[in-house]
Amino acid sequence: MALTENFLIITFTMSSAEGSAIAGIFWSYSPVVVITSELEGKINGQVAVTVVTSSIVGSVPRLIVGIWKGNYTHSFIYNSKKLNIHLLKNDQFDLVKNFGFYTGRERDKFDNISFKPGSNGCPVIDGVHSYMECEVLNAMDGGDMTPFLVKVSEGKVFDSGSWMTLSDFYNYAPPDWIAEYDQKLSKSIQFSMPIIHNINYEPFKT
Ligand SMILES: Cc1cc2nc3c(=O)[nH]c(=O)nc-3n(C[C@H](O)[C@H](O)[C@H](O)COP(=O)(O)O)c2cc1C
Repeated sequence: MALTENFLIITFTMSSAEGSAIAGIFWSYSPVVVITSELEGKINGQVAVTVVTSSIVGSVPRLIVGIWKGNYTHSFIYNSKKLNIHLLKNDQFDLVKNFGFYTGRERDKFDNISFKPGSNGCPVIDGVHSYMECEVLNAMDGGDMTPFLVKVSEGKVFDSGSWMTLSDFYNYAPPDWIAEYDQKLSKSIQFSMPIIHNINYEPFKT
């Protein structure tokens, strides 16, 4: 802080570490969701925490959904332009493991899961907190991921309790599951690093 003739000048230092920590706040309280999609008769689903609201008009509900390109589900959503988003009850860690720890390229994630097709053909998982059916309106390239702008066409709340946040997952999931996910996350980061800055600015074709 310095005082000149007429002004009090406040100087402060900024750091990219602090910037990362503040950006991290946007992870902690995000709902943990399972996103399902259908493409040419095949179904798949994954976990995500990158779903944020993006409409101020209550009667026109929209979200932005961030999906990493390495995920099998990315190709389903990118090509079919439809998805269902499920909020989980705050103790449904088994669903997080089933959909978030493994890839649908290597196993049928719906093998032991009770579900029915939604009106858009994407799976609706039984027993979750709530779900929405969505249609992709637009998207942009994010290097290693794609943020999809989606329209929420319908939805249903099944449970009046609270939904799971990423903090719930890290605080209450079995510790060995968290360790397993952290290992998977490291591999996903290795996939992201070489492509995260390669942003293609061409418009998305719907
Ligand atoms: C707690 C948790 C949070 C996750 N958050 C995201 C996310 O926000 N976006 C994303 O694309 N993947 C996220 N993932 C990773 C995918 O769910 C995971 O890579 C999954 O295995 C992809 O499956 P797929 O290859 O069948 O699509 C998350 C996983 C977990 C367990």
